[in-house]
Amino acid sequence: MLKQIRNIYVHIPFCNKKCSYCDFPVYALGHQTNLLHKQNIKDQYIDYLNKEIKYQFNQARQDLGKIQTLYFGGGTPSLLSPFQLESILNQIKSGATIDEKCEITIEIDPGTFDQQKLNAFKDLGVSRLSMGVQTLNEKEFNKLGRGHNFKDILASIEQIKKSNFKDDQVSIDLMMGLPDQTLESYEKSLRQTIEYGFGHQSFYILTLEENTPFHKKYINNQKELPITDQVANMYELTHDILTEQGFIHYEVSNYARNLELRSKHNLMYWEGDQEYLSFGCGAASYYQSMRFSRPRTLAKYYQYVDKLLVGSNQYYVQNSEYESQYDTLQTIVMCQLRKSEGLDLKKIDLYTDGRNGYKSQLIIDIQNKYGDQVSQYFTQLDENRIAFSVQGFLVSNTLISDIQLILDNIFLKNT
Ligand SMILES: C[S@@+](CC[C@H](N)C(=O)[O-])C[C@H]1O[C@@H](n2cnc3c(N)ncnc32)[C@H](O)[C@@H]1O
Ligand code: SF4
Repeated sequence: MLKQIRNIYVHIPFCNKKCSYCDFPVYALGHQTNLLHKQNIKDQYIDYLNKEIKYQFNQARQDLGKIQTLYFGGGTPSLLSPFQLESILNQIKSGATIDEKCEITIEIDPGTFDQQKLNAFKDLGVSRLSMGVQTLNEKEFNKLGRGHNFKDILASIEQIKKSNFKDDQVSIDLMMGLPDQTLESYEKSLRQTIEYGFGHQSFYILTLEENTPFHKKYINNQKELPITDQVANMYELTHDILTEQGFIHYEVSNYARNLELRSKHNLMYWEGDQEYLSFGCGAASYYQSMRFSRPRTLAKYYQYVDKLLVGSNQYYVQNSEYESQYDTLQTIVMCQLRKSEGLDLKKIDLYTDGRNGYKSQLIIDIQNKYGDQVSQYFTQLDENRIAFSVQGFLVSNTLISDIQLILDNIFLKNT
């Protein structure tokens, strides 16, 4: 299938400190006390990043469409100076055309920016800020091992408010299931973030990622964490309060004040079959039916870029996975079921050439599997769409793998 690239992700791996729960590809800069040295580390990274962008754009030239979304994720991209961000943007612009309506998002962390920096980002074309607040409860905050102080959160919100970004251009992340968190303390954080009036909110349930201090501390000591039922209550409460306030629940963890304020970049991922280019340490791309993850450490990423430039694509070959049409269909199932509008079953026809009535068999098999629970877990289950209810979202990982398995069995019987 001929696909044009319209979406780009850029990973900025720097953080002041690695948070105790986080497993993203991150390089902690906080222990570097020499400011010039810190600046040099970032400059060196941007140098490699720009080389990678230039090389990949050359390779993909014939597939590049007008860029509709550009996402700077991290890490903490707000640790970049406006000058450094501009250098990356200029590199991108020299190889691709950015649509004038392009959504350009940057992830920001409290304590890493002021009003001037935000205004400079805006002048460079950034149209969306996404800030990780996580909690507004100081006791919970103190357990997270974040690279900033509690008071930085409110100070940063003030800086955003004073900047040239409109409230509609800002998204806030909160976390559920944190140590010491109760339904009451969570509700307080939630209501306070809503009062800020920002256009978008994301909610993440804490995952104990392997090789993190949180995993070591809590994996055999889960009584210090809220139990599953309490986290489920937090999830349901979030839905009740936000929808009551007029927010649209459009993806398992995401709410927007109106349809326009949904994250266009993330909606692209949740289509499941949209190809995109990514750049930077640890970043994953999907291009020409290949899913490819770059090395997660700076040193290895630099080696990879150096080798790429001398014409060796050995790393790419060893670390890419080819996605067949059927794999893509399974990715679509996994991604689209995360959205409130659910899975568009036309995709099943599209990826199976409309053969063998897979669609109707899928619906029958799901109905048989869930019986009386269908109305509890699904808001739609017919030949047009499969969509989850709030109760369904609470067990969505299980539902999605069940549905993928059902699809596998239908395919096995028919091939
Ligand atoms: C890619 S991170 C980067 C954002 C930013 N650096 C920050 O820390 O807020 C985006 C979000 O992922 C969430 N996150 C990170 N690690 C997580 C974990 N182990 N479990 C659940 N959510 C997590 C946090 O809410 C975070 O805001
Ligand atoms: S600031 Fe964000 S990306 Fe960095 S370590 Fe913490 S959660 Fe991870």
